[in-house]
Amino acid sequence: MIKVDVKGCSSFVKDEQYQAYVAKAFDAFDVLKNESGAGNDFLGWKKLPRQITERELHDYEAIRDKWMKKGVDLVIAIGIGGSYLGAKCVLEALSHNFAKQLKRKDAPEVVFAGNNLSEEYLAELMDLASERNVACIVISKSGTTTEPAVAFRIVKQFLESRYGKAEAADRIVAITDARKGALKTLATQENYESFVVPDNVGGRFSVLTPVGLLPICVAGFDINALVAGALDAMKGLEIKSEKNPAIIYAAMRNCLFKELGKSTEILVNYNPKLTYVAEWWKQLYGESEGKEGTGIFPASVNNTADLHSMGQFIQEGTRIMFETVLHVDNAQRSMVIEQDPQNLDQLNYLAGQHVEHCNHMAELGTQIAHIDGGVPQMAVTMEKVDAFNLGGLLYFFEFACGISAYILGVNPFNQPGVEAYKKNMFALLEKPGYEEATKAIKERL
Ligand code: PA5
Repeated sequence: MIKVDVKGCSSFVKDEQYQAYVAKAFDAFDVLKNESGAGNDFLGWKKLPRQITERELHDYEAIRDKWMKKGVDLVIAIGIGGSYLGAKCVLEALSHNFAKQLKRKDAPEVVFAGNNLSEEYLAELMDLASERNVACIVISKSGTTTEPAVAFRIVKQFLESRYGKAEAADRIVAITDARKGALKTLATQENYESFVVPDNVGGRFSVLTPVGLLPICVAGFDINALVAGALDAMKGLEIKSEKNPAIIYAAMRNCLFKELGKSTEILVNYNPKLTYVAEWWKQLYGESEGKEGTGIFPASVNNTADLHSMGQFIQEGTRIMFETVLHVDNAQRSMVIEQDPQNLDQLNYLAGQHVEHCNHMAELGTQIAHIDGGVPQMAVTMEKVDAFNLGGLLYFFEFACGISAYILGVNPFNQPGVEAYKKNMFALLEKPGYEEATKAIKERL
């Protein structure tokens, strides 16, 4: 079970101040539970852990098995934003740090594309593809997003010229809307195996739909455990109580924002495998809360590395932030510091200690230093970084996000601001239909 500790905020906010936000969190919890708030037609994610069937999980496993029989060793997962970050964060968290170098072959390697428009990236991806046995998962809920569409056109042409049209179609799975969008049309016409992103689940809440589950499964990870962890967390999160970790987290972050003006939240990790959990979290909170001139800016650091770069600013720079530390109780590997007879590095005082003990002391020491420097501290604790605990963590953050955004008074489930750049990009690219916008934007250059 995920735990949230807010002791590191106690010297900054009075208990009465915090309790006022717990009361707001209770109201927001009811709105989320009763589905009576803004964006309530996008609450499908809430029920996913209970709704996912064994059959569905088996369908994903069947694709992995089919591709493995063909000898596929590289799967290109194409998508951006919510159609990318959930799978990426789980894969990064569950993979061996040196999986690429170790070249383990128990499942295909999954790489990502369609999350940028870099020509170099795509050309170099094709360098890799040309040496490997390739399949592709193309993901776009709307089916119309430019970045994945560009990447898919290139990958599709590569697969068709390498394997022929029929075999290429057997190596492509599309995940998109049930009815509309260019990807849906293409998938139907080309007869790709397809999965649906439910209408009532937004991109950033879609990690427990095929959007996240298929790439994670194809990469050889335990989606049953991921879903079981989410379900386990869900049972605790559904209870309206001041001990509910989502209520504590949502209440305190809003209290710090509104009462102290702490407008930046830094998600801190002490394990490189969690770097992309922060990237996923940034999208979840950034897109859900950053609108109507409000919202807490989500940032992240990877410690202890960033203590040697961002640490200075966090300790002494502009006092705009609070931190939420992702604390992991137990490392899953063991590495003990040995005695050295010469002790030239003067580390013998640590002989016999686990490296993770040093990591935990760095974490604790940093939290105390940052409190002294005026940066309130929260901690979100998970037992270990495995599929079960990760499922719980992701569901916790989603649930807390719904509550937090409702406390803030915004619709957590839309993202109107994302359209602004697209309109300009299409105008500059002279997309048919954008003639007037093209003229207008060119006059501004
Ligand atoms: O959270 C969201 O809805 C967005 O970030 C989308 O996931 C992102 O824009 C990709 O959209 P699509 O899956 O429609 O290509």
